[in-house]
Amino acid sequence: MTTAPARRLVELGPEDLIARLDEALAVYVSAMGYPPSTARQRRALWLDHIRRPGWRAVGWIDATGALLGIAYGYPGAPGQWWFEEVRRGLRGTPGGDLRWLDEYFELTELHVRPDAQGAGLGEQLLRALVAGTDRSHVLLSTPEYGGSAPGRAWRLYRRLGFRDVLREHRFTGDTRPFAVLGRTLPLDPPDPGSTG
Ligand SMILES: CC(C)(COP(=O)(O)OP(=O)(O)OC[C@H]1O[C@@H](n2cnc3c(N)ncnc32)[C@H](O)[C@@H]1OP(=O)(O)O)[C@@H](O)C(=O)NCCC(=O)NCCS
Repeated sequence: MTTAPARRLVELGPEDLIARLDEALAVYVSAMGYPPSTARQRRALWLDHIRRPGWRAVGWIDATGALLGIAYGYPGAPGQWWFEEVRRGLRGTPGGDLRWLDEYFELTELHVRPDAQGAGLGEQLLRALVAGTDRSHVLLSTPEYGGSAPGRAWRLYRRLGFRDVLREHRFTGDTRPFAVLGRTLPLDPPDPGSTG
């Protein structure tokens, strides 16, 4: 007798994510520990991102069909809000290396439902997402400080070899300091001892 896999990592096309948008935003607010009202504000932004050239998403689905985790991103380009914010930061930082902005893939969102964290799902989402880009490197931003959940993201990024691109960066409209991290692609193969 064969048993259904407990969970599976799937590619999500634009229509797939739109169909699951409420569920994906619920994963996002629970993972980040944000108030549920944040989901309403992010909805329009996510819909805008979904339409960008080269956008891709991956997710973890459990045996009941529920979404356990979500990651998406797209190729960065001049004129995008995030690109311009990072360029401003690099220009204002002694030694800031603008070459990071050449040909990068932006890892925009990466979230695993709190009850599914700690099993390597986040690492596998990140790996699957960037494996599908032909860009030479990946960039992301993450809060410098926060509760335990951002600390987990930091450990994951450092373990995968992400380096500092900018520290203590202030994005327009957000009072919190962020780090921008990056690394070249492809990623090194997974550690054979890792879970997942
Ligand atoms: C960041 C995140 C996606 C990682 O997903 P994950 O499936 O937990 O990833 P991993 O299992 O690979 O764990 C990453 C690290 O956190 C640790 N961790 C995960 N869950 C934990 C828990 N409940 N208690 C303690 N440590 C935990 C892991 O041990 C690992 O640390 P290590 O590299 O030192 O071993 C997930 O924790 C998350 O959604 N966090 C909140 C949202 C967030 O910060 N997203 C990134 C925004 S930039």
